[in-house]
Amino acid sequence: MNRILLRGGRLLDPAGERDGPGDVLIENGRIAAVDADIRADDAEVIDAAGRWVAPGFVDLHTHLREPGHEYKEDIASGGRAAVAGGFTAVACMANTNPVNDDPSVTDYILDRGHQDSPARVYPIAAATRGLRGEIMTEMDALVRAGAVAFSDDGATIMDSGVMRRVLEYSRLAGVPIVVHAEDRTLVGNGVVNEGAVSTRIGLPGNPAIAEAVMVARDLMLAELTGAHLHVAHVSTAGAVDLIRAARGRGVHVTAEVTPHHLVLTDEATAGYDTNTKVAPPLRSLADRNACRAALCEGTLDAIATDHAPHAEHEKDVEFTAAPPGLIGFETAFAVVLDLVRSGELEPLELVRRLSTEPARILGQLGGSLAVDAPADVVVLDPAAEWTYDPAKGYSKSRNSPWSGKTLTGRVIATFVAGRLVYSEERGVLFP
Ligand code: DOR
Repeated sequence: MNRILLRGGRLLDPAGERDGPGDVLIENGRIAAVDADIRADDAEVIDAAGRWVAPGFVDLHTHLREPGHEYKEDIASGGRAAVAGGFTAVACMANTNPVNDDPSVTDYILDRGHQDSPARVYPIAAATRGLRGEIMTEMDALVRAGAVAFSDDGATIMDSGVMRRVLEYSRLAGVPIVVHAEDRTLVGNGVVNEGAVSTRIGLPGNPAIAEAVMVARDLMLAELTGAHLHVAHVSTAGAVDLIRAARGRGVHVTAEVTPHHLVLTDEATAGYDTNTKVAPPLRSLADRNACRAALCEGTLDAIATDHAPHAEHEKDVEFTAAPPGLIGFETAFAVVLDLVRSGELEPLELVRRLSTEPARILGQLGGSLAVDAPADVVVLDPAAEWTYDPAKGYSKSRNSPWSGKTLTGRVIATFVAGRLVYSEERGVLFP
């Protein structure tokens, strides 16, 4: 019998509203006991003193690039990077090649996920064929194949009639629509946030209103249809205000924010580092602070990385030509710990937004240390300092603005279904 005892950690279990010292016993892939002082003589004991023990993180928004862009990432490398970052489950976007707009692609991703990835992999299918925003996908067939949500992420569905139908059908299918809300006609050729920084550095600006306009439309359509709208990578105060007001009216809306939009501002783009180019762009300090406050108050429900690998030759070009995106799995925990260090968020609340809330939004198990729950567990050292070198990480790509930076907060061990799949000392242990 496979028994592991995590002894003497600080247990952070948002689902059970628990924050305090204790032991966790893992047995046959499940959490067998959670208590003050568990005796289990035959168990393998892991000393968790001084560490946090939490449900594994769940990432609502990632790009694993398989099929089709395996030179950037594949399900094996992305899954390894995920568990090294404490993520035990990841949902992957449909902008692959071929696009995940057909059950055969959903099947393929699930199959590769089971075989190649130490993290659980949940496919998000395209809302429209080829992500073209014109013709809806066969949602029912995609959900039966295992899609957990629909999204044209990377692209905005500009046609409001199509968007209305997509929401109506997703409601019948019982899954959320995840929107990349940027009005293309307002974005124009903008590559950084429109404002003083874009003017100073001479790059075309993408205005904050491009996000708010689209969020306003999508909230109105969600209200009309009663569908579950999930707003991806919220980056502006305007979008936050709209989401808060809509929720107040009873609209079924959830929303996520990325580590980079919580910590960085458009000042980070001033050095023309293409690893700071993301869609939506890094925003003003006022927008960033509004996103932080909204995450703390719960208007923004979850943290999602938007892990978006791109190859070195693609990023090593002038800013306007580089594809948007940055890798996020292995730095996410250390980066968002900033909110705990600043006193804005309690550790339990941070774990809620990295684990319990994203699992709830996706309608999947996870985010809980309850007895009998699958033992997806992470052990964390919030005080450990380390220097991030993407070349030593597990992603195939290196496009991170935190490359070479000293970070505080480290993943010590990750368990998926009771199996140790990552340890700080031994690295990824899979297969
Ligand atoms: O920065 C981004 N990169 N934002 C997106 O929406 C798409 C993603 C990608 O696929 O690279």
